[in-house]
Amino acid sequence: MHKIEADVVIIGGGIAGLSAALGLPDRRVAVVTKASFGKGGSTPIAQGGIACAMGKDDSPELHAADTLVAGDGLSVSECVTLLTKEGPEQIRRLIEAGANFDRTEDGELSFGREAAHCRRRILHANGDSTGAEVERALVAAVRRNAAIQIIEDCYVADLVMADGQVAGVRGIFNATGERIEVQAPAVVLACGGIGRIYRYTTNPVESVGDGLAIAARCGAVLSDVEFVQFHPTALNTSLDPLPLLTEALRGEGAVLLANGRRFMPDLHKDAELAPRDVVARGIWAQQQKRLDVFLDARTIGERFPQKFPTVFAFCQQAGLDPRTDMLPISPAAHYHMGGVSVDANGRTNVPGLWACGEVSATGVHGANRLASNSLLEGLVFGARVSLDISRSIAPGSRPVCPDVEMKPRPTFITPDEAPLAQRLRDTMWNDVGLVRNAQSMTHALQVFDEISAQTPQSIMLCHMIDAARIITQAALARKESRGGHYRSDYPEHDPHSQHHPFVYTGNGPWC
Ligand code: SIN
Repeated sequence: MHKIEADVVIIGGGIAGLSAALGLPDRRVAVVTKASFGKGGSTPIAQGGIACAMGKDDSPELHAADTLVAGDGLSVSECVTLLTKEGPEQIRRLIEAGANFDRTEDGELSFGREAAHCRRRILHANGDSTGAEVERALVAAVRRNAAIQIIEDCYVADLVMADGQVAGVRGIFNATGERIEVQAPAVVLACGGIGRIYRYTTNPVESVGDGLAIAARCGAVLSDVEFVQFHPTALNTSLDPLPLLTEALRGEGAVLLANGRRFMPDLHKDAELAPRDVVARGIWAQQQKRLDVFLDARTIGERFPQKFPTVFAFCQQAGLDPRTDMLPISPAAHYHMGGVSVDANGRTNVPGLWACGEVSATGVHGANRLASNSLLEGLVFGARVSLDISRSIAPGSRPVCPDVEMKPRPTFITPDEAPLAQRLRDTMWNDVGLVRNAQSMTHALQVFDEISAQTPQSIMLCHMIDAARIITQAALARKESRGGHYRSDYPEHDPHSQHHPFVYTGNGPWC
């Protein structure tokens, strides 16, 4: 096995990981990505923008208030305050690093409005290509820094542990199968979400819950992992992931139709602009009646191609013209509010382990994330993690790593395992999806045992099984409905609801 040393290893090359990397200019940082650097993960495909209180009529307090309302009573207000207060400074740094956001004719930053935001505060780049621009700028900044080593196309299987401390990571290169150990006294999980464990998702192939599985294996406490956000409007095609039809379309007047009739006004006073979980379940209910649901965005008309170039291209690929055609839609797993439990500096309970971005649970999003807060969270808390590491780990400190043999194994799902992965994704969708209950989730856990019993080998499928079990067990334990977690057997809020810390004990052998 190839062994190298670093001061800090960051798993993940999206906004959170790169924000952390750029905050450590005087350390030897290794960034490990399972796709080619700058290519995989959720950041480059994020259509929605970055919410930030920088407008003249706005304030961090107003942004925080909207975030807390969306969080449905479970947000950690200290972290929400940090997010909204530190956001503007981090956006200015991002602009200095080269990110170009859309501007008005006068050259001022242009702020868009989205549902549940009381002010125009959403920055976009090239209309609906914000994530691609942010990733481009961050990747360029990282490449300018010779102290940051990129280890790409490498799949992390596990952390290296020494005397209860994190001491590095072990991974396998996808193409060659070569094994690598990166030894370091600090590891940052920034490896994104879990959407891919669901049959329908807007998330890329990389988002399979690696971070949950890796952290759980070394005893990290997880929190609120039952809260999964389903985006109401993905374009219902045979593509996987399903192309996202950004919420901004509904902000521009697009409406939802089933049987030629709008159904959202009957369900919520804000109709199509109601909270995401309400809209997504409204669509799900129509689908349960075997009705196809469509987004009618024709009122946007000739402005469509310029205002929403990414969505327009997806529609064209599907043979649809959103200026004249109605768009078939489905809800899809989109964002994970819960994750690895961290404090306001991104620290987990395991010495040497930090987490930021979607994999982490800062408590910022509570039970339901406010649209366009996720890129900001990655940026702000990635920077906070780097500050904390700078303060707490002396430069050049070296862990003593135990000599452990790592067995060769496939990284991505093999053709033989594909039916198992599909069964897992179908089960999560049907049994632990938009509407769940004790019976469906108990069934799901049995299915995951049956899949485990087939002893899958790929790192990816093993991570998926762990992530699926973790979310299902946590969802079974939360006996109420709130935000993204809706139980048909407990449809009401529990007035005494709290955060649920969760320690995974596994169920059957680790694969
Ligand atoms: C969207 O544009 O609808 C997605 C953005 C987000 O999830 O924050």
